[in-house]
Amino acid sequence: MKPVVDSERLSAELDTLAGFSDVPAPAVTRVVFSAVDLAARRWFKGLCAEAGLDTREDAVGNTYARWHGADPDLPAVATGSHFDAIPHSGRYDGTVGVLGGLEAIRALRRAGHRPRRSVELILFTSEEPTRFGIGCLGSRLMSGSLAPESAASLEDRDGKTLEEVRTEAGFLGPLAGVALGRDRYHAFVELHIEQGPLLEREEIPLGIVTAIAAPASLRIEIEGEGGHAGAVLMPDRRDAFLAACEIALAVEAAARGTGSIDTVGTVGVCDVFPGVVNGVPSRVRIDVDVRDIELARRDGVLAAIEGACRSIGAARRVRVASRTINRDAPATCSPLVTQALSEAAASAGLPYRTMVSRAYHDSSFMAEIAPTGMLFIPCRAGVSHRPDEFASAAGIALGVEVLAGALQRLSA
Ligand code: HGY
Ligand code: MN
Ligand code: MN
Repeated sequence: MKPVVDSERLSAELDTLAGFSDVPAPAVTRVVFSAVDLAARRWFKGLCAEAGLDTREDAVGNTYARWHGADPDLPAVATGSHFDAIPHSGRYDGTVGVLGGLEAIRALRRAGHRPRRSVELILFTSEEPTRFGIGCLGSRLMSGSLAPESAASLEDRDGKTLEEVRTEAGFLGPLAGVALGRDRYHAFVELHIEQGPLLEREEIPLGIVTAIAAPASLRIEIEGEGGHAGAVLMPDRRDAFLAACEIALAVEAAARGTGSIDTVGTVGVCDVFPGVVNGVPSRVRIDVDVRDIELARRDGVLAAIEGACRSIGAARRVRVASRTINRDAPATCSPLVTQALSEAAASAGLPYRTMVSRAYHDSSFMAEIAPTGMLFIPCRAGVSHRPDEFASAAGIALGVEVLAGALQRLSA
């Protein structure tokens, strides 16, 4: 029997989840290990229990909900995504892959599917870099691409370490225990909104991802000399903020300068100290995000930014220190998964296109330990990381239907 998606229930659950937020609707703010994040996790575990899944959490809060297959010794098939939402963002980024994954499992169970391989739904911890400065914390630790001791010492803006925050949140045990071997999963597939305009523009309901862009981020600390805004004359200044502005413009120039539309550079964080109108900025921290689907081009931009830091620092007589937060390779999706997705789309009579993902995802790291693929659905005008992020109930239901079809094939 064909799995049938309960779109009404799924929409209601997405709306409920959007209510676990530190800002009023339509915006969503759900930062990892905040009270609303922890409440959302508890609510989610209740849904999984209701669906007959066995749940467990690891030492960093990755949550696993398992539908046991006939042969428990076989590596499972996994799906999932994230709940955390950057400040003042939308309600579909990540959540469609978690609640849509749950609905795909429920639809398969209602249709009488009996998986040979277990099917496991994963809620990843901290896909967004908001609190600890690096994205995909949970999946990095799962894949072994982030050392537990490096993760433990990550600090948030209040100077609290991940170690303190995760244990206060009740996630105990050694972080080293989060790593999963390469034989843990037979396949991993993530449903996600496109976070781009192509599917909507081409009126195609599904995107099968072939590769995921290579993200990198830098933290640049600039130290000049503070002073009285009235007393320090312009020729005598070593203004850290103006140096930061020049560096930000150099980021833009380097990204535009590759000549490829696939190169992007962003300065999304800028902290000015002492941050008063009548004080010359003495210290500034900027966080820089650089991506491309081609590694060499991305690394060329990083090198250009480092060069700009040196020359601007010298010209403005300020100290500029740049630290790499992450510098990841692009991820390639597995034919095992893309094939299951394309067959599922075909049997649902749905057109799709193949595409690359310009956003990174937990799939970027799951690809290091299992054959991995992603399925995109359209989002209105390609908007994401904003309160007006939107995916239609019908579009989500089509994605869940094809996800269910792929899980059925991969777990048979
Ligand atoms: O930034 C990203 O690509 C993802 O949304 N965290
Ligand atoms: Mn995001
Ligand atoms: Mn996401």
